Amino acid sequence: VPNEDLAHLGTGPVSAVPYYDPAYFDLEREAIFKRTWLHLGRVSELPEPNGYIVRSIDVADASILIVRTTANDLRAFHNVCSHRGTQLVWAECGRARTFSCPYHMWNYANDGSLRSVPDESRFFRLDKAACGLRPVAIDTCGGFIFVNLDTSPSSSLREYLGPVAELLDALGLEEWSEFSEYRYNVAANWKTTYDNFQEVYHLRWAHKKSVGPIVVSAENPFGYPVRYNFMGRHRSMTLWYNRSAPLRPTEKVMYEVLASDDETTDAVAPPRPAEFVCIFPNLFLSTATNRYFTQEVWPSAVDRTTSTIRMYWRGKDERASMRFGREFSLASLVEVHTEDRELIEGAHRGLRTGVMEHVQYQAQEALCRHFINTVNEMVEEYRRLSAR
Ligand code: FES
Ligand SMILES: [Fe+2]
Repeated sequence: VPNEDLAHLGTGPVSAVPYYDPAYFDLEREAIFKRTWLHLGRVSELPEPNGYIVRSIDVADASILIVRTTANDLRAFHNVCSHRGTQLVWAECGRARTFSCPYHMWNYANDGSLRSVPDESRFFRLDKAACGLRPVAIDTCGGFIFVNLDTSPSSSLREYLGPVAELLDALGLEEWSEFSEYRYNVAANWKTTYDNFQEVYHLRWAHKKSVGPIVVSAENPFGYPVRYNFMGRHRSMTLWYNRSAPLRPTEKVMYEVLASDDETTDAVAPPRPAEFVCIFPNLFLSTATNRYFTQEVWPSAVDRTTSTIRMYWRGKDERASMRFGREFSLASLVEVHTEDRELIEGAHRGLRTGVMEHVQYQAQEALCRHFINTVNEMVEEYRRLSAR
């Protein structure tokens, strides 16, 4: 992609302050995480009535209970008991028709309504109908669950996602209900962590021993993407692969096994050039053939971030070899992320010294620039609105 096509995002250096300043992080919490649609899971995690999952959103000090009600509706609530505010559900997932608070046993139906209160007559005119769980906006797109902590979101999920909604619908990922998950903590800002996955410039050096050879060649020595796509707050790149990169013997087996799971894929080859989608604020989705993954990047403090990676699979393991292919595929990703983590933390250690007034982005770091532009715009807008 020529420089001229990317210059509209800006060409100058970018302020380094947002990448380490605690006051800026507090603004992001309000301007972004408390008022945008956030991806929390997949519909396939709650396939039947009475299923539930709990997700905490540390950056917003929230814990969210997502349920499929007995009547088969998908609902979300703050996981907070209406009596004295105790965390209601403590398990990460399960099945339940009702939830009882462990403190004084107030009991709620899975549609959020308050059913019973021990020794209710001792309360002074308790309005039980007004003491249900506090609802949270929830919607789905292509099987992905999103919530919005704003009590009246400024846009619907589809409006928010824009063209990304069509992409999610078109992927047909509903069948991909199995997944392997792992999480890792990074001692760095969430944007520095996120940016690591928004450019391919570093792969040649940082991942020399793992994925580097798959993304560079004499023809594309820095592995630059084929295309960039900017979609409102979201963005994507079409990755380029070196089809003639030598594969390690175990990799060959992995691709064979995974390809046999999908007749549209070549027998022994890395995944097709994939669309790597960055859904604002903190989700990645890679749509490579026969293995797709999501990565969530969750801040808990200005310098603390947790990444949750999921590799999704279509159908359960049918053979031991399939399990091997899937596990190896995940392990390869862990290897790459281990290489990344040290560098991300190194970047944060450097930035927080405050000696850098600016960071520099070249044209092919376009997604990083689009990301910080978006963050800065939202923080500015929030500042303006709260100053009124
Ligand atoms: S705080 Fe939940 S029942 Fe008392
Ligand atoms: Fe990397």
